[in-house]
Amino acid sequence: MKVKVSRKEHFNAAHRLYNPEWSDQENERVFGKCANPNFHGHNYDLVVSLTGEPDPATGYVYDMKKLSDVIRHNVIRKFDHKNLNLDTEYFRNLNPTAENIAIVIWRILREQIESKFDLKITLYETERNFVEYPAS
Ligand code: NI
Repeated sequence: MKVKVSRKEHFNAAHRLYNPEWSDQENERVFGKCANPNFHGHNYDLVVSLTGEPDPATGYVYDMKKLSDVIRHNVIRKFDHKNLNLDTEYFRNLNPTAENIAIVIWRILREQIESKFDLKITLYETERNFVEYPAS
């Protein structure tokens, strides 16, 4: 009787994709415009999904207002209108690809959500490009 419930939130953030061990030329070859040294922005859509049993008393798997508050307090507040490379601790030494951002968000929220719930992160970097973590 498990049900998956999801909450969508949104943040805007800037980033630059590059590998510091490579030349500028090599970075541009691999990451294209995303290696632009002066950064660029995305409007990220973040979907956080929890899977669990509906509570017999409430019928809820999880209070969605509470889930929204947890996401906003722990993720949106840290990432929205920030430069992910420069303004956050998470991407000083980690390339802020959608893949890595999703993994970081999962790790942050995993500490906030009781372990009885399965947690899945879906992150849209554009309308057409999105990643999911864990993968299955
Ligand atoms: Ni980008």
